[in-house]
Amino acid sequence: MAAALPRSCVEPGSDVGLPGFGSDGVRLRCQAGIGQYESRERVFVSQSEERQNLLEQRYGQANVPAGLIWNERIQGLLEHRSVRAFLPDPLPAGSLETMVAAAQSASTSSGLNQWSVVAVTDPQVKAKAAALTVSETFGIGSTFIEQAPAFLLWVADLSRSHSIATEAGTGTEVVDYLDSFLMASIDAAVAAQNAVVAAEALGLGVVYIGAARNKADEMAQLLELPPHSFVAFGMVVGSPDPAQPTQIRPRPPQALVLHHDRYSAQQSMDNVEAYEPVLRDFLESSGSTVRTWREMVAFSTSSMDYMDGRQNLRETLHSRGFQLR
Ligand SMILES: Cc1cc2nc3c(=O)[nH]c(=O)nc-3n(C[C@H](O)[C@H](O)[C@H](O)COP(=O)(O)O)c2cc1C
Repeated sequence: MAAALPRSCVEPGSDVGLPGFGSDGVRLRCQAGIGQYESRERVFVSQSEERQNLLEQRYGQANVPAGLIWNERIQGLLEHRSVRAFLPDPLPAGSLETMVAAAQSASTSSGLNQWSVVAVTDPQVKAKAAALTVSETFGIGSTFIEQAPAFLLWVADLSRSHSIATEAGTGTEVVDYLDSFLMASIDAAVAAQNAVVAAEALGLGVVYIGAARNKADEMAQLLELPPHSFVAFGMVVGSPDPAQPTQIRPRPPQALVLHHDRYSAQQSMDNVEAYEPVLRDFLESSGSTVRTWREMVAFSTSSMDYMDGRQNLRETLHSRGFQLR
């Protein structure tokens, strides 16, 4: 009779079914089925080697920042990658509620909780919501939205504040200002990112969908949103398809985004060049169309094709009661 698997093979932190390694820096490959303690293969990977490897994926070998402080939560953040291929399995019981608890634990401007989330799991509603994200310009949609078990629509939501103030008879002037729109949008984003971190900690995969604003008016109608609210962005969540693993997308050198005491445009622009070869390697190895970062930025900055309907957002917001003064 086969011996029980060694505890270290089944504890969280071992690499059974996980992409990670043991937290002691020892990678354990447990050969389930044989189940002999002696049968596991120990591959020694030092923690520093593992961290270096992760940082190189994030920044490219030449641009790895020095001196990072490390722990499991930081590692989880640095391991993020958007997932666009999902198994059809439903979300594990409790995972949506866990994501929302994480989202509600995020800071919220003035404690106003000016966001909501609509979790779409009904296949028919999901198909309609997915159809609203299809690119008119390029004629492509995100098929993975229908594939995944849940499409979360994050709502910048001034409707509750508006209702409460209306009931109180205080007037609602503040809601009319651009800053209120921004506050609700920031609240939604801050909450959503906490939900992403929670989902990934549960082994789920996630991708944001800004294309949920392509037809913002229709999306609001589909979800029966009240006035003074709109879908700021969507988020697909589900179990990543292991047959289509996703690579970590590298970021520019820290000096492109990090300034000390005052902003230096020169320093920022000087670091663009260092990003290009790193991004090129990533695009090549992930089978994506190879373009420079400059080309990508210039396209998204200049082409109305990129906007894909989102140029109508101001009109939609006005019609939904946002004055944006
Ligand atoms: C607000 C926001 C909107 C996004 N919208 C889309 C989208 O509509 N479709 C998509 O495939 N990815 C979308 N993404 C994912 C980005 O493309 C992705 O985060 C970026 O390329 C970096 O890759 P990574 O998340 O794997 O690190 C969005 C991300 C953010 C933050």
